[in-house]
Amino acid sequence: MGDTLGDIDLVNPDNYVERVPFEWFDHLREDHPVVWHPEPSPNRGFWAVTRYEDLTNVHMDWQTYSSELGAVALEELDEEQLEVRKSMLETDPPRHTELRKVCSKRLSARGVGRYEDWIRDVARSVLDDALPKGEFDFVSEISRDLPIRFLCSIFTVPQEDAPQLIAWGDSMIANQDPDLSAAVVDKVDTEAYRLLPFRSPTALKVFEYADRQRDQRLAEPADDVLQALTVAQSEGVLNEREFHNYFGVLMIAGNETTRHTISHGMLALMQHPEQLELLREQPELIPNATEEILRWATPVFQFRRTATRDAELHGQPIATGDKVVTWYISANRDPAMFPGPYTFDVTRTPNDHVTFGPGGPHFCLGAHLARLETKILFQELIPRLDTIELSGPVERIRSNFVNGIKRMPVRVRTK
Ligand code: HEM
Repeated sequence: MGDTLGDIDLVNPDNYVERVPFEWFDHLREDHPVVWHPEPSPNRGFWAVTRYEDLTNVHMDWQTYSSELGAVALEELDEEQLEVRKSMLETDPPRHTELRKVCSKRLSARGVGRYEDWIRDVARSVLDDALPKGEFDFVSEISRDLPIRFLCSIFTVPQEDAPQLIAWGDSMIANQDPDLSAAVVDKVDTEAYRLLPFRSPTALKVFEYADRQRDQRLAEPADDVLQALTVAQSEGVLNEREFHNYFGVLMIAGNETTRHTISHGMLALMQHPEQLELLREQPELIPNATEEILRWATPVFQFRRTATRDAELHGQPIATGDKVVTWYISANRDPAMFPGPYTFDVTRTPNDHVTFGPGGPHFCLGAHLARLETKILFQELIPRLDTIELSGPVERIRSNFVNGIKRMPVRVRTK
């Protein structure tokens, strides 16, 4: 097995700090599309799935490839951990369908469409503040602020809470980066937090915050996503733990991922100035460009499933209980699906990327919102730019789970 993988190590977060190791994914996709990848103890290892078609098959066949034994990150969970930390991400139908229904209408294209004007106003005000600075960190001034402010609006929580929510989200999701989290999972002992999402003590603060918001909605109902969660808990559709985990998933999943999409999108446009020029000349291409930015960015590297029965995938025997990790980052560069996958082409069509998952029960619930936010940001930003360039090194998050940029200094001249 070691011979097959050579020096490839998809687990060590250090291997994603400088850049995404695309050459490893190319090699695996080409020669070993479904391969057993060992892991440091206590994990046992996993099947790495790197082709678009195989990834899609795994996600569609949820009866064989279940989410119930964990879906997020590579950590293997015991029964107690699973029970306490379970969200819709770790639930199979039919229960999963009930959980998803609690918010699916509010996060549908129509549900988020009613926020379009509001999102545009937020984008304008963030740009009004940032662009006159001339030289600044694009992440902290633009891409970090926007998604959380949008989420504050769909949750109707105070905008002043945004910085706190950002810090909590960072510390939970980026739990492999010492810059962003005090409880770095592969460096310090996080055993005391084993029953919390992402093994992060920050989760407790997020839960307390959710409780306060729920209590407010019980006293004074509002027309928002949190109201839907509050009603679901009052009616017994969600128990308290499920309410907490639901809130946490929405807050965290909707924040970090969109931020990185916006940062990667800007970076790609700076690195491909002819594409930026094209969007300046033909802004009607921005919705199409949004899809290419999403493919290019792939902010979530992988999600995982566990086999419920013996099966076969691309000729490999998968045994009951085996962990199967599907690498979106690789599927989105699969030449069988995307001609010239390493060309950033804002006119690319079709563009059936798997950035939100390939479909199946767990397709990202926030996809409409994320698309809308990204599209509006670039629609507002591009016409204002005269020039934009990097003014320092881009710094990436240390993670084998999120493809994140934590700092991106830029120099901007506006029109
Ligand atoms: C560009 C931004 C985003 C990316 C790349 C992203 C990516 C993903 C991925 C890969 C999945 C799992 C899909 C699967 O297993 O097939 C997922 C699920 C999910 N996402 Fe997103 N997401 C984004 C934005 C959002 C936003 C804005 C929200 C909420 C406001 C959100 C909420 C969720 C939820 C609740 C799930 C679980 C769905 C389920 O299990 O049924 N996401 N997302």
